[in-house]
Amino acid sequence: MGAINVVIIVAVLFVPLAESKDVRWKWQAGSKDVNKPSADLILGPRTGGMVFKDSNTYNSFYLFGGAVFDPKLNSQHLANDLWKIEGGIPSGEVLHPGTAGQGTNRDPNDLSPAPRMLGASCGIVGAMFMVFGGYGNNEVLGDTWIYDFGRKEWSKYEKLLSDAKVNNTNLLSPPARADMAVWCTRDKLIIFGGVGETGQTLGDMWQFDLRTLTWKEMEESLLLRNQIYSNHLTLWPEPRNGATTWVKGTALYLFGGNRGSSYDRKNHHNIGFSSDLYMYNTTERIWSYINGRRATGLVGKYAFRGQHARGNQPGCRRGGLGVVDTIGNLWLFGGEGADTHADSVSSEKPPKILADLWHFHVLKNEWAYKDGFASGNSAGIYNGDKNTYYTGSQLGSRYDSMSVVAGNTILVYGGVGLDASGKKGLLDDFWEIDMHNYVAYFSATYPATIFNMIFWPFSLVAIICISFMYSGKFFDKSVKKRDISYKPLLQE
Ligand SMILES: *[C@@H]1O[C@H](CO)[C@@H](O)[C@H](O)[C@H]1NC(C)=O
Ligand SMILES: *[C@@H]1O[C@H](CO)[C@@H](O)[C@H](O)[C@H]1NC(C)=O
Repeated sequence: MGAINVVIIVAVLFVPLAESKDVRWKWQAGSKDVNKPSADLILGPRTGGMVFKDSNTYNSFYLFGGAVFDPKLNSQHLANDLWKIEGGIPSGEVLHPGTAGQGTNRDPNDLSPAPRMLGASCGIVGAMFMVFGGYGNNEVLGDTWIYDFGRKEWSKYEKLLSDAKVNNTNLLSPPARADMAVWCTRDKLIIFGGVGETGQTLGDMWQFDLRTLTWKEMEESLLLRNQIYSNHLTLWPEPRNGATTWVKGTALYLFGGNRGSSYDRKNHHNIGFSSDLYMYNTTERIWSYINGRRATGLVGKYAFRGQHARGNQPGCRRGGLGVVDTIGNLWLFGGEGADTHADSVSSEKPPKILADLWHFHVLKNEWAYKDGFASGNSAGIYNGDKNTYYTGSQLGSRYDSMSVVAGNTILVYGGVGLDASGKKGLLDDFWEIDMHNYVAYFSATYPATIFNMIFWPFSLVAIICISFMYSGKFFDKSVKKRDISYKPLLQE
């Protein structure tokens, strides 16, 4: 009788597990060697470019600048070329060559933003694309540029204001910065922190209204900067650069980044890297602390792959990529920081370059380590033909890559990382990470909930039945047989 129950319990347990929840990896185009341009991906090896998803299409996006590798000079330099990239094929079309990207030699009167990497970008589909700040050649930038898709030209924000005879000091741009947290919503670009002109870490927050073309510092940020503390201001994330961000409706999420001193930043240590998750509610205009620990320099933690749990935690990092899936959960891949090994936080060694894929379940408020390489500094596995999902293929470690989400597929291009042979450099590969099986598992009828509703009451009943049967056989007899006697310690 008991054995049958056990079989049923085991069967029920394995039904949902048999369902495929796997993530699939596809090397779609480009080179499997770093610093090596490929014939099929004309964008070239690149990192820290600024992207903007064309939400009118399934998988095309815009890309501006970044650091590119020039094989002729055998070195890297900053670019200012603007591309439209078709994700499915993938193919690229130069919208504006700039002066230092692919296909240069343009009319010198044709303005373009200075070459840069790790700035902020956003846009309005079909109308405009904008960039702000970033690391330029020998300086941190603070300029805002707008590309008009119709007129096919760049304009500088300050010039637009003066042309419109706007002289309002309230419309001043944010101070110069790079590697800031960036959220691109339907009508606003919002930024937090970054690295300022003198190398200091910033913690202020600004928004650029894409419709009215106006900059504005968040009220609370202004109060904080002027050290005016109000009751309204209950919580504010610590200054940082290189955080991973997600936009989900009115919620702006921010994870990790570098909170270290400028000494640690200069020396490229990960002891100031963080793994905390904050959320900013754009309606209430308040920050909440969602998950993780406030301390910096923490390694990742998880017990079981693919399972959410309270104590799970991605390792500290900066420069990871983040996307939101179709049901509103968050995905995190790579970056530089710490993996799950105890020795991966160090003030002697450079941070590890990561290739781990994490899933944050927003309702449960829990992380799951889902896929990828649990260990940092892992070389990519470029199996099979390009453009086919091939078992065993896996995206190698990388940070500051360029990515967008198409449905439940992450499109990833380039970054700094390890190629097929484990060599570090600028990557020139294009990948798809397909999460739709896992997302489907959580969506619609929510099988996990149904499973929990059926499985747990059923097994409880089963366990009670089994206990009853066995208690009759052993427990009673053993109690009777044993001659238990005791002496009270205290006599009344
Ligand atoms: C704009 O304001 C600045 C400083 O407030 C002033 O120097 C300048 O003349 C003004 N320009 C115009 C066009 O009013
Ligand atoms: C943000 O605040 C509004 C107003 O209180 C609320 O309706 C909304 O659910 C909040 N969003 C999130 C993601 O918590």
